[in-house]
Amino acid sequence: MTTACPISSPADEFDPFGDGYQQDPPAYVAWSRESEPVFYSPKLDYWVVTRYEDIKAIFRDNLTFSPAVALEKITPTSQEANDVLASYDYGMNRTLVNEDEPAHMERRRALMEPFDPEHLAHHEPMVRALVREYVDAFIDDGRADLVNQMFWEIPLTVALEFLGVPDDDKPKLREYSVAHTVNTWGRPEPEEQVAVAHAVGNFWQYAGGVLERMRERPDDHGWMQYGIRMQRELPEVVTDSYLHSMMMAGIVAAHETTANGIANAVKLLLENREIWEQVCADPTLIPNAVEECLRHNGSQAAWRRITTTPTEVGGVSLPEGARILMVSSSGNHDTRRFEDPELVDVRRDDAADHLTFGYGAHQCLGKNLARMEMQIFLEELTGRLPHMRLAAQEFSYVPNTSFRGPEHLWVEWDPADNPERRDPCVLRPRVEVNIGEPTAAHHSRPMRVVRVVDAADDVRHITLVSDDGTALPTFTPGSHIDVECADSGIVRQYSLCGSPPAPVQPAGCPVPHTPRPQEYEIAVLREQESRGGSDWVHDHVHEGDVLTVRGPRNHFRLPEQAQRYVFVAGGIGITPIRAMAAHAAREGVAYEIHYLGRERAGMAFVDELATEHGEHLVVHCSGEGGRADLHRLMADLSDRGRAGDLHLYACGPQRMIDDLTTGSADWPEGTVVFEHFSSTLGELDPEVEHEFTVHLADSDVDLVVPRDRTLLQTLRDAGRAIPANCREGLCGTCEVPVLDGDVDHRDVVLSGSERRAGDRMMSCCSRAVGDRIVLGL
Ligand code: HEM
Ligand code: FES
Repeated sequence: MTTACPISSPADEFDPFGDGYQQDPPAYVAWSRESEPVFYSPKLDYWVVTRYEDIKAIFRDNLTFSPAVALEKITPTSQEANDVLASYDYGMNRTLVNEDEPAHMERRRALMEPFDPEHLAHHEPMVRALVREYVDAFIDDGRADLVNQMFWEIPLTVALEFLGVPDDDKPKLREYSVAHTVNTWGRPEPEEQVAVAHAVGNFWQYAGGVLERMRERPDDHGWMQYGIRMQRELPEVVTDSYLHSMMMAGIVAAHETTANGIANAVKLLLENREIWEQVCADPTLIPNAVEECLRHNGSQAAWRRITTTPTEVGGVSLPEGARILMVSSSGNHDTRRFEDPELVDVRRDDAADHLTFGYGAHQCLGKNLARMEMQIFLEELTGRLPHMRLAAQEFSYVPNTSFRGPEHLWVEWDPADNPERRDPCVLRPRVEVNIGEPTAAHHSRPMRVVRVVDAADDVRHITLVSDDGTALPTFTPGSHIDVECADSGIVRQYSLCGSPPAPVQPAGCPVPHTPRPQEYEIAVLREQESRGGSDWVHDHVHEGDVLTVRGPRNHFRLPEQAQRYVFVAGGIGITPIRAMAAHAAREGVAYEIHYLGRERAGMAFVDELATEHGEHLVVHCSGEGGRADLHRLMADLSDRGRAGDLHLYACGPQRMIDDLTTGSADWPEGTVVFEHFSSTLGELDPEVEHEFTVHLADSDVDLVVPRDRTLLQTLRDAGRAIPANCREGLCGTCEVPVLDGDVDHRDVVLSGSERRAGDRMMSCCSRAVGDRIVLGL
């Protein structure tokens, strides 16, 4: 553990209220992602965290990193402003987002039902009708400020409807919301603080008044009325203070986030015209386009936590009481997590792993409502105004750390070209709204096979290009893609064995530019005991075919710095190693490749590798008497390995990995990385799990949960739409009712007494103790 120098120079200058951060937060802190991912900002008196994994680790542990400061004023205000707030009896307190455990989880679970997919589906016709009506109002004008004329008001109307607030004075609420944002996340000048305090005080009183009116009609629809009804059952969980605070915070949580989210999304797509046109032509891309926009240009730029004990983030020691600003928008652009993060790729298969909705126990409860709204906006706009373009304008933002979206978004078009003047059919909805995270069908990449050659006996070397001509993301060595074996239902992962293009230095430009790859290469061995995938590729894939591909993704990443690499490949395990070795050679890092196989004729790329890598390559071919003695190899490497001078990367059969594991047992953590031929499927270890049957009592169906699948995966495979946020037992979303059978609880959501009651379980991680369990589904 290191203790960072408390103040360093770019950190000194860090100003989240300045134009640099407002215009593009991830670009503004790019230096930090590269060289100082956790730093202290003296201007803010916060620790700032900018890398994906560090931010996720903080979100994951809400005991060490309390959310209590999430709604605290980031800028302390003057006594005069505080007095103004006090004169309104302002008492914003804990809601959900800033509540600690165990109170938070009890409350969250008591209030979750209205966010279920089937409840949310009721709001869809209302959202669609609103969007249509607002577009009708300006479609013949040829010019509109989408923020003022639509994006601000519709999410506000939807938020009020969802919360159960009578349709009220919207301009007043807009003024209040902005004041709340500035008060909580902004840096108002002293003279502005008093006006802001009056608006926030009025907002507080307004929220109290609405709540009183709701209490008179507790059976009306709405999430707040649901809370009022739950208060009768659980008065200690759903308190008065909660209801009043949530009445105010809920309007902002449900409204501004989504209004900014759609404004950022449309801006991003129009700035990337060819992507906009792609989405116009193929509306099935919309659910994942929403996710990619939230990743690339989300409406929550940063979120806050405070440490409850001395701890460490990214190797930096933090004291108890350290305030932390997690720049989640920067995590979303972290090259360690997302391949080619600057590319807007609406087919990115892990776009939904962005941090814009937070993560873990507090992950946004309203995310599926927001997704639904954003999809409907995009569907209507891409269908009715595909020819619209951004007007020339400067974009301005309300200066604050967290809520981010342009104040205006001017677009223009020629009304004579409005498609509905020619064809009224464009007014019909073209795709179904997807409630929840996009599925595999929403982010597949059609790729055309342009070359199929034999790389060795029984090994096909296949080259793929983008079928619709759109850019392919560049990839890092060790990446793989998923290939769908047509309608066989089989999906297989294959490492990319080619190299992405090298960076080039354009004349007169100091920053090297990395061209995007034109093609992806994979090599597929026909397995003796094929489970269908490799046979299918060998028997059915021909030049000219179009394959459905997902990715690239990388779970087998090279470190940022290494003195010397030792690459070990067994058989077809050469595929990721080929890309890694090419990278090491290009970067000038010392390396050696040990390539193990039975017969040279069956070893893919062996001749090319010899030409490309010369003496760096050692071929251990048992058929030629060159059987690899891995014990000997590891003994030779052991001194340097133990000293941390080597990085060992290996891919191959289990026996080879076992030998390397034994030989490197005393090497420092992180210096030995293996890729297995078969995936371990999440955190489950099939070696220690057992298979069990789940009986779904309401539908009289039996399902088998195999050792390498979770209950959640099995239920979803069987078509049950079980919502799931964290998939790690942290958030309580995937709860299912248990009627019979003992549960092996592995979550951190249920209390001891709830576990003992045995009537519910978290399907993402918990399993059956015995061989059968009965669920009320
Ligand atoms: C929490 C973002 C829309 C209700 C959060 C958090 C973030 C967030 C960053 C904190 C997460 C954490 O601490 O891990 C967003 C964004 C939205 C959006 C970017 C739109 C694009 C909505 C909507 C609603 C909503 C439409 C309500 C209808 C909530 C609630 C929480 C929350 C209730 C607190 C959850 C808890 O602490 O257990 N949201 N949100 N949000 N959001 Fe959203
Ligand atoms: Fe979060 Fe299961 S507890 S998805």
